[in-house]
Amino acid sequence: MSVLDIIKERKSVRKYKEDSIPEEVFFRVLEAARLAPSGKNLQPWKFIIVKDRTLKEELAEASAGQFFIAKAPVIIVACGFPDYCYADMGRYMKSWSVDVTIAVEHLILVAQDEGLGTCWIGSFEEQDVKSILNVPENVKVLALTPLGYPDEEPRDRGRKALEEIVSYDTF
Ligand SMILES: Cc1cc2nc3c(=O)[nH]c(=O)nc-3n(C[C@H](O)[C@H](O)[C@H](O)COP(=O)(O)O)c2cc1C
Repeated sequence: MSVLDIIKERKSVRKYKEDSIPEEVFFRVLEAARLAPSGKNLQPWKFIIVKDRTLKEELAEASAGQFFIAKAPVIIVACGFPDYCYADMGRYMKSWSVDVTIAVEHLILVAQDEGLGTCWIGSFEEQDVKSILNVPENVKVLALTPLGYPDEEPRDRGRKALEEIVSYDTF
């Protein structure tokens, strides 16, 4: 399948089977994150793999009560290192959130290719997630995603037309 086909197929999954993920499949998903590009190749990230049921439920609670994430066999918590990244992107920002986002998207697309579902979770209390998982003060939590076999076929949520988002030679 082409990368574009995988991109077209991917949708946020909010209902999961409890089936566990074979080790070799899980390895390929993590490998996709590991191989992501980053500013100055500093790779300012860490991915916390959460399988413990109690921790998953606590993370769901800390994510605005989105309890569907605790049903997946795994929750991946993507963290970034603001003190160890390309610090002058566009002369105005640090790269860590972009770096981590690219790595998470890599992971999401390979998960899709492996028949696994994901859902980017951006609604969470960072301080709560940090205390649940012992994340150090100087490390940021960027996103969570459940990872598991889908138990639903999500509907297509549509996108803006290309003409609306692309311009040529000038803004
Ligand atoms: C930054 C970001 C934050 C998001 N936060 C949540 C969230 O907290 N809960 C949720 O169910 N979906 C969340 N989503 C998923 C979006 O709602 C979803 O990607 C969008 O509606 C398009 O649907 P699709 O992913 O099925 O194509 C988030 C996505 C992004 C990129």
